Formats: sequence, C-alpha cells, structure tokens
Amino acid sequence: MVEFIHELQKSSRCVDAALERYLYALSSQKTKLVQAMHYSTLLGGKRLRPFLVYQTGQLFGLKQESLDAPAAAIECIHAYSLIHDDLPAMDNNTLRRGEPTCHVQFGETTAILAGDALHTLAFTILTHAPISAITTEERLKMIAVLAEASGAEGMCFGQALDLESEGKHVSAEVLETIHRYKTGALIRAAVHMGALAAGKKSRKILNYLDSYAVAIGLAFQVQDDILDMIGDSQSTGKQRGADKLLGKKTYPLLLGLDMARAKAKNLYKESLASLKKIDAIGYNTNMLVKLARYIIERKT
Ligand code: IPE
Ligand code: IPE
Ligand code: MG
Ligand code: MG
Ligand code: MG
Repeated sequence: MVEFIHELQKSSRCVDAALERYLYALSSQKTKLVQAMHYSTLLGGKRLRPFLVYQTGQLFGLKQESLDAPAAAIECIHAYSLIHDDLPAMDNNTLRRGEPTCHVQFGETTAILAGDALHTLAFTILTHAPISAITTEERLKMIAVLAEASGAEGMCFGQALDLESEGKHVSAEVLETIHRYKTGALIRAAVHMGALAAGKKSRKILNYLDSYAVAIGLAFQVQDDILDMIGDSQSTGKQRGADKLLGKKTYPLLLGLDMARAKAKNLYKESLASLKKIDAIGYNTNMLVKLARYIIERKT
C-alpha cells in the first residue's frame, strides 16, 4: 500500500497545481466567490477521481501533464457536487474535510454560486486547456462524457433520487440505482476521460475499464455509507451518523453492517475480474488493483 499512497499523493500534487493555476487565472480571483471555490476545491480531499484519470491515461503511456486538464475538470465537478450536497436544502451538513462546509464558512448564496462557477469552470478547462495528442473530436467526446455524467442522467439524477427517498422505504434495487448515479457516474466518467485522452489506443479495453469503474463506483459509496455509520469523524472529516438523522437510505441501514461489508467485498472482486481481462491483453493494472482495495478499506 505504501507505493499506492505515494502515487496517490503524487497525482494529488499534480492536480492541485493545475487547479491552483486555473483558479489563479480567473481575473475575479480576489472575490469572496473565488475564495469559496478555492476553499472547497483545494483544502483537503482524496483526489480519487483525478487519480483515476491519471492512472487510466498512464495505462496507455500518456504523460501526467497531458492528463492535468481532465483530472482538474472532474475534480471541479466533484467539488461543486459536494458544496451543493452539503447545503441546508440538501444534506444540511456543517462539516466537510474536517472544516466548516462552504455555506457555513461563506454563506449560502456564495456557496451556491461557488458550486455553479466550479461546474462551468470544469468545461472551460476541458474546452481550452492543452491536452496533447487529442483530436477535436475526442475533446468534444470528453466534454460530452463529463456533461452526461454530471447532469440529469448522471450525478444530479442520483442526487434527486437520494433526496426524494429520504424517510421513505426503498428497495435494494432503488438504493443501488441511487448510488450508481450519485457517485458511480463521475467515477465512470473519470476512467472514460483518461481513456479518451489516449485516443484510439484505448478502444479495445474500454468495456473492461468501464466494468471496473462501475464496480468500484458502487463500492465507493457503500464504503462511504459504512463510514457514515461507524467511521471516526476525525478521519472522515464529516459528521458521523448524518445519514440516519436525515432518514437517508444507505447500505448498512438497509442491509446491516455485515451485509454492507460483504457487498463492498463482492464489488471489489468484480472489479478485479475486469482488471484481469485487461492484464491478459498486456497492460499493467497494478495501481488500479490497489485503488480498488483502498476504496473498500479506507477510513477517510
Ligand atoms: C465524498 O466523496 C462524496 C461521495 C461521492 C461519497 P470523497 O470521499 O471522494 O470526497 P473527498 O474529495 O475525498 O473529500
Ligand atoms: C454524495 O453522497 C454524493 C455527491 C456529492 C454527488 P453523500 O451525501 O453520501 O456524500 P457525503 O457523505 O456527504 O460526502
Ligand atoms: Mg447526499
Ligand atoms: Mg452528503
Ligand atoms: Mg455519505
């Protein structure tokens, strides 16, 4: 795991430097709005989605620099989704990454706008930033992939279902749909964008990569639910027990802790089965294997 943590820290430094550059380039950078964007993007966070962009691109021999733009773009969408997720109208959380949530720190109006502005910044980055060796067609495809994963057929769809389900009975199937969209969609997009950055080379194994991403995307949210129930607030940086208080539907609340853990473990195994097929074609998936394990074992 030491090698994995080292690699994760390396990609965090790269995407953070890119995010700093994009935020610094905004002529409005001294405003409260941009301070809030900076706060919610750069103070903490595991950077797992950028890591997936980097690792997928690097499977095909791409250099880190040519993946900075898609890595930064997806992290902007993620940061925006967290700001809005924490708002009083949504999960009404006051703690994120061990700090006051964006609306607590800057006020609700600034937080809403910081989310909006990060959302559009993601697409400004993808439209203008240099992504070496990519055709305009592939760049457009990358924009479309991120847009679809973020919107009414992606993350927002899952968030809407999540909020509609508060306090109601939902089946395991509906819960799985919520998780696949609110969290899984962006994780799939991260892998897809890394692959698109590599152009034609990636087509052969795109389906296997996608199956891997689907499995780890769901496992990621199952573990998030487990941590909400039994995690240590100091490590998660979030308020423990928030889901139950809100009447959220989660895996441990619906199935119990043991079944939730078993679900995460099965998804981990599923993700490895997809990676084996990629290995068999001659790619080194070592880091993606380690990431899958980290996702179900993490405490943060
Ligand atoms: C939290 O995501 C929200 C979910 C989708 C579960 P992360 O756990 O990746 O949040 P950070 O970026 O590391 O804070
Ligand atoms: C959030 O799921 C998913 C998105 C932000 C899209 P949660 O509501 O469980 O995330 P946390 O636990 O607040 O980070
Ligand atoms: Mg939520
Ligand atoms: Mg939440
Ligand atoms: Mg949660």
